[in-house]
Amino acid sequence: MRIVLLGAPGAGKGTQAKKLIEKYGIPQISTGDLLRAAVSAGTALGKEAKSYMDKGELVPDMVVLGMVEERLKQDDCKKGYILDGFPRNTAQAEALDKMLESLNMPLTGAVSVDVPFDDLMKRLTGRRTCKSCGQMYNVYFSPPNKDAVCDKCGGELFQRDDDKEETIKKRLEVYTAQTEPLMGYYKGKGLLKSVSGTGSIEEIFAKICAILEGK
Ligand code: AP5
Ligand code: MG
Repeated sequence: MRIVLLGAPGAGKGTQAKKLIEKYGIPQISTGDLLRAAVSAGTALGKEAKSYMDKGELVPDMVVLGMVEERLKQDDCKKGYILDGFPRNTAQAEALDKMLESLNMPLTGAVSVDVPFDDLMKRLTGRRTCKSCGQMYNVYFSPPNKDAVCDKCGGELFQRDDDKEETIKKRLEVYTAQTEPLMGYYKGKGLLKSVSGTGSIEEIFAKICAILEGK
């Protein structure tokens, strides 16, 4: 299973990817998570990336492509992979195709999680993430039992720097202009399947699994 998860900011790509890891035992490659790790580590790449992320803009393609290639070459990706938040524009999608061809691990599918734009703002402003285990919560839809504490591991919950209303608006604009056209790109290759991303996390997960298992 070698797939791309497509969808707007807040559509639930990360939430669903975490469940897919558990069920299928293949790694998630989230460029957003990789970039945030570089920001936290204070590397030169992280410092450069942060200036774009804080504005809600895309980080330059070269930075992201290098990171993804390095990650795909790791052993665990031989079993398959879930790309989350990558590619983000046509140039990245074309570069990915070339990269995967040379690594002999082409995509087997692209799954788009579709959520009406009106729902995304609340999902993003309400999101909280565990610093220790990465478990995601939402103060409106799926709050933790104890305020700011992870139910799973007791870790501290944080709010992402780019989950502010103004930055979210910009991220949604960037998505419409640069990322949404990828639906057509993967449809043209016969790889695209879409699921509605409204409803419970479990319902959406069941639909994605059915697609992946060809049911
Ligand atoms: P990235 O981290 O990829 O963020 P994003 O695409 O904006 O998507 P999100 O992570 O915000 O949303 P998600 O779909 O994962 O939703 P989630 O599952 O968390 O990118 C961040 C930045 O990094 C970019 O702006 C850019 O600067 C840079 N970047 C990253 N990749 C790049 C690339 N390839 N090229 C260039 N730059 C790049 O869910 C959201 C919330 O909703 C959670 O609270 C969750 O609990 C809740 N939720 C989930 N499902 C449901 C449901 N069914 N019902 C109700 N609530 C739900
Ligand atoms: Mg995410």
